[in-house]
Amino acid sequence: MKGNNTLLLPLFYTLLLFLGVSAGNGSNDDTNRKEVYIVYMGAADSTNAYLRNDHVQILNSVLKRNENAIVRNYKHGFSGFAARLSKEEANSISQKPGVVSVFPDPILKLHTTRSWDFLKSQTRVNIDTKPNTESSSSSSSDVILGILDTGIWPEAASFSDEGFGPVPSRWKGTCMTSKDFNSSNCNRKLIGARFYPDPDGKNDDNDKTPRDSNGHGTHVASTAVCVAVSNASFYGLATGTAKGGSPESRLAVYKVCYRNGCRGSAILAAFDDAIADGVDVLSLSLGVLPLSRPKLTSDTIAIGAFHAVQRGILVVCAAGNAGPLKYSVVNDAPWILTVAASTIDRDLQSNVVLGTNHVVKGRAINFSPLSNSPEYPMVYGESAKAKRANLGTARKCHPNSLDRNKVKGKIVICDGKKDPKYITMEKINIVKAAGGIGLAHITDQDGSVAFNYVDFPATEISSKDGVALLQYINSTSNPVGTILATVTVPDYKPAPVVGFFSSRGPSTLSSNILKPDIAAPGVNILAAWIGDDTSEVPKGRKPSLYNIISGTSMATPHVSGLVCSVKTQNPSWSASAIKSAIMTSAIQNDNLKAPITTDSGSIATPYDYGAGEITTSKPLQPGLVYETNTVDYLNYLCYTGHNLTTVKVISGTVPDNFNCPKDSTSDLISNINYPSIAVNFTGKANVVVSRTVTNVAEEDETVYSAVVEAPKGVFVKVTPNKLQFTKSSKKLSYQVIFAPKASLRKDLFGSITWSNGKYIVRSPFVLTK
Ligand SMILES: *[C@@H]1O[C@H](CO)[C@@H](O)[C@H](O)[C@H]1NC(C)=O
Ligand SMILES: *[C@@H]1O[C@H](CO)[C@@H](O)[C@H](O)[C@H]1NC(C)=O
Ligand SMILES: *[C@@H]1O[C@H](CO)[C@@H](O)[C@H](O)[C@H]1NC(C)=O
Ligand SMILES: *[C@@H]1O[C@H](CO)[C@@H](O)[C@H](O)[C@H]1NC(C)=O
Ligand SMILES: *[C@@H]1O[C@H](CO)[C@@H](O)[C@H](O)[C@H]1NC(C)=O
Ligand SMILES: *[C@@H]1O[C@H](CO)[C@@H](O)[C@H](O)[C@H]1NC(C)=O
Repeated sequence: MKGNNTLLLPLFYTLLLFLGVSAGNGSNDDTNRKEVYIVYMGAADSTNAYLRNDHVQILNSVLKRNENAIVRNYKHGFSGFAARLSKEEANSISQKPGVVSVFPDPILKLHTTRSWDFLKSQTRVNIDTKPNTESSSSSSSDVILGILDTGIWPEAASFSDEGFGPVPSRWKGTCMTSKDFNSSNCNRKLIGARFYPDPDGKNDDNDKTPRDSNGHGTHVASTAVCVAVSNASFYGLATGTAKGGSPESRLAVYKVCYRNGCRGSAILAAFDDAIADGVDVLSLSLGVLPLSRPKLTSDTIAIGAFHAVQRGILVVCAAGNAGPLKYSVVNDAPWILTVAASTIDRDLQSNVVLGTNHVVKGRAINFSPLSNSPEYPMVYGESAKAKRANLGTARKCHPNSLDRNKVKGKIVICDGKKDPKYITMEKINIVKAAGGIGLAHITDQDGSVAFNYVDFPATEISSKDGVALLQYINSTSNPVGTILATVTVPDYKPAPVVGFFSSRGPSTLSSNILKPDIAAPGVNILAAWIGDDTSEVPKGRKPSLYNIISGTSMATPHVSGLVCSVKTQNPSWSASAIKSAIMTSAIQNDNLKAPITTDSGSIATPYDYGAGEITTSKPLQPGLVYETNTVDYLNYLCYTGHNLTTVKVISGTVPDNFNCPKDSTSDLISNINYPSIAVNFTGKANVVVSRTVTNVAEEDETVYSAVVEAPKGVFVKVTPNKLQFTKSSKKLSYQVIFAPKASLRKDLFGSITWSNGKYIVRSPFVLTK
């Protein structure tokens, strides 16, 4: 398995990566050193005269010598370029009129829970409903999903175009070819493929091709728009029919991620192309790490998404895998649909059977060759202590703490409670090196994620279930047991549960927009994989065409697929209407009919899952929608401190008479017509927020009433609390007054639900102190 030594706890991993990839260099005395900078110049269609300047002209005005510095040009969806510059040159370009920002080309990361090539998971079903694909599985729609990721394995059965009509005539994209990818790899399903090799990488053939050499991109694409493939499984695990959220949609892939990560300059180039190509929806399972969070105007995903959304393209992004820390959500601009990850109702268990025949529940993916009968000697780490080690480290099985003579030929029990330093994979290596034949790791660090340990009998046991294991070990001088190969446990309860790794709100960008927006399945998801991955193949088996992995990366395409199917059914709906439909129809209860919890067992809040868990049929008929328009987003730029000049450069042609609202402050962000509500109460006794809803149902004449679920100690009133829609009044507004009886001690949550008896339209709210 590649990259074992990078497998640390998410937080540590995050910190290390951040340090490893931070763009600048503190000791920057070498001002002549050139690196790639992105020069962002706002809208492409701006009437701003400065922007008509050729990029080369701007560049030549600062470059000392004539050199070919430009790495990428952006001109379709927005204006700007990426170029090799010294710090000094970058500074002087940033002073030029019409330049919004100049920043070093950042490196973003895929949002699987672990390293580049680590995670695995599976997706047969959603919790309560299945995508409505049975009726339409043989027909095609003209909705085009663009995915920015690691490329595609075009031979996967998931991307067959059988039964598909011709490629939509408005499609302007292309199928880039290479040594291992020719034009027949694209078809009526996979209609576009582009790649953007790293300007600094020594590009090998893996880089100059749309072909996926990682698996992540293929997995994500098949989750979103895979056609039905029966009997899909990962070596018999999670067997079922693999099917994407919108099998009828078309797919275009933009390969922006390579071995070292995903370059901001490539991401912007892909946005620029995708906008010109004519995609309807964009899906990004990648992002910055929370600590390296850039400003809005140097955040490549926020910039690209802004211009995409301006053209009516809905952009769906992963929230990140830096949870459960607060403020860890990324991709949190208000024009992005930000996705958290939850579990599905299927567990992957590798249990431990003790000499007493008692079964202790474990979670992992392994193809344990051990016999099912509990006949193998077991030893607790502290009983196998090496001479010079101490009991504490031996109990946890830290490096150099185990005595080979006491471990050899045994299943080792390691107590990893409150041991964030080493993950299971590292302990496997320690146990293996000491001659152990199996590992029962007591740990809560991976929550509901089942990691793949291939042939080695290793399993993770929760600290709760670990008690029985330790008692048994204590009760006998010759403990024996076995570790069973993984089995699929269907109808697992409770589900969904918010994954421990899923990044949490509140948003650092603004306390007046609630993020993440929504949760979707992202734990142990089965989907298509590249066909030549030999890194995790059980002995004597062939590489699997499917893989099981986890992350907000896997949750994101569940939502993108859903967006495509809502768009297929309602082609005229705006991007924000679709986003609203998905958010207001979300559910907050699990399959025990109890409130959805987090992996640690506490009741989930909107900081964990936004509006809740997606449902797949209700967004097709939401009743009412909250539409967020361009002016809302321009106002947002004003409210966040951008002046009118900058707003105009960023957005290009602004509506006539547009001006930044007087007294533009961040508090006004709460009034953006968002499907959820967030209010910052610092220094305020009460706050009034307004919203406008649009009736999109067939019934013109209908009356909706509001029901408020208010937190204790807060007065919440909706006026009017009845909305009467008619043929001529499809859009109606209301106001909400929030008045806490005392100043807030902590952040509080509630909801406002409109219903006419047929449709239920729910918006969560959060009040921050
Ligand atoms: C930073 O610059 C120093 C001196 O120029 C160099 O030795 C070091 O490798 C650089 N570090 C990074 C992360 O680029
Ligand atoms: C593309 O490659 C496949 C497999 O290598 C080959 O069978 C096919 O003829 C090629 N098509 C074109 C148009 O070159
Ligand atoms: C399903 O796949 C498994 C192995 O992947 C195979 O053994 C089995 O025969 C297949 N079943 C059907 C019905 O195709
Ligand atoms: C094991 O037994 C010892 C001595 O009887 C006791 O102190 C200890 O708490 C026991 N440990 C567990 C995990 O039961
Ligand atoms: C709320 O607003 C105050 C003042 O504007 C600000 O200092 C504080 O950071 C905000 N709270 C949050 C959670 O962002
Ligand atoms: C607007 O903001 C930009 C960037 O902060 C600044 O350079 C410019 O001078 C400002 N313009 C006005 C008219 O204040």
